[in-house]
Amino acid sequence: MSKKILVMGGAGYIGSHTVKHLAAKGYDCVVADNLVYGHREAVPAGVPFEKADLNDPSSLEALFSKYDFEAVLHFAAFAYVGESVTDPQKYYHNNVVGTLNLLAAMKNHGVKKIVFSSTCATYGEPQYTPMDEQHPQNPINPYGRTKLMIEQVFGDYAKAYGLKYIALRYFNAAGAAADGSIGEAHNPETHLIPLVLQAIQGKRPCIKIFGTDYPTPDGTCLRDYIHVEDLAEAHRLALEKLDQYSGYINLGTGVKTSVKEIISAAEKVTGKKCPVELAPRRAGDPAELYAAKGKGETVLGWMPTYMNIEDIIATAWKWEENRKY
Ligand code: UFG
Repeated sequence: MSKKILVMGGAGYIGSHTVKHLAAKGYDCVVADNLVYGHREAVPAGVPFEKADLNDPSSLEALFSKYDFEAVLHFAAFAYVGESVTDPQKYYHNNVVGTLNLLAAMKNHGVKKIVFSSTCATYGEPQYTPMDEQHPQNPINPYGRTKLMIEQVFGDYAKAYGLKYIALRYFNAAGAAADGSIGEAHNPETHLIPLVLQAIQGKRPCIKIFGTDYPTPDGTCLRDYIHVEDLAEAHRLALEKLDQYSGYINLGTGVKTSVKEIISAAEKVTGKKCPVELAPRRAGDPAELYAAKGKGETVLGWMPTYMNIEDIIATAWKWEENRKY
């Protein structure tokens, strides 16, 4: 039997788009997820699904005993920055202890390759922009710290146990599958683009703009929105690179878009007005975060295909208009 790719957290937003991409490229995946935030419906038909939890080592042991894995893609994390401040234990247990459990199961079963979902939140407050991988890492919330801790664990496990790893530091994941089959479905939703689209649909009273007094051209925060299908492709390229390279790679477009520009683009894409309310700044939001072009291209040979924010929002809108979960 051929070896398989374990996609831990493959029923979540970025995980499910990556599974769809890998399946289309002929990879033999197994999805494992605890379904706390993931959606069973997001896993393509024909891809084996196993319920497993990072904090239940016996479920990991059963998973690794049942299948012969070549590599692991690890998306299974809690990712609400605000909640990580109010309930850090939840984040350290799942994102750190849980990942150590996963690495232990890999070690016990001789699986040496991992691609990991890291984040630009490991950098903290930007000291310069655009941000490259050498930017100092001083995360300002527990969520970012959990991701940085695991990046550091990888370096030690690589030296001691021969682990091969690539940690992908995403900027702002956005959009949905171009065919509308899967998309972003967080509960609760906190991300800008789905909230704007839901306000346009009348499912929410308005979008609150968190801060209009930032030192940016229009006073609102600038972010680097990277399409989820481009992220999916980067994971496949990382998987294929693990024999030659271990390290950390930013995934962004290098294009910065403000909150107000997102709202205008969404109005253009949908042809409808978005009700807006001006609100105070949200704690912990840097004025601008965007990626320097570099290792994605030079190490992975990766180039994002969605460089226009309207194209990204159009895929999110197609999903929001006909959501399946
Ligand atoms: N925003 C609003 N109103 C809202 C929601 C968001 O104005 O209702 C603004 C935010 O203040 C921010 C921008 O829209 O300026 C984007 O906010 P998101 O919550 O969509 O995304 P973040 O940039 O806060 O978070 C993303 C990822 C996190 C990651 C973080 C790194 O979702 O997982 O980038 O900074 F940690």
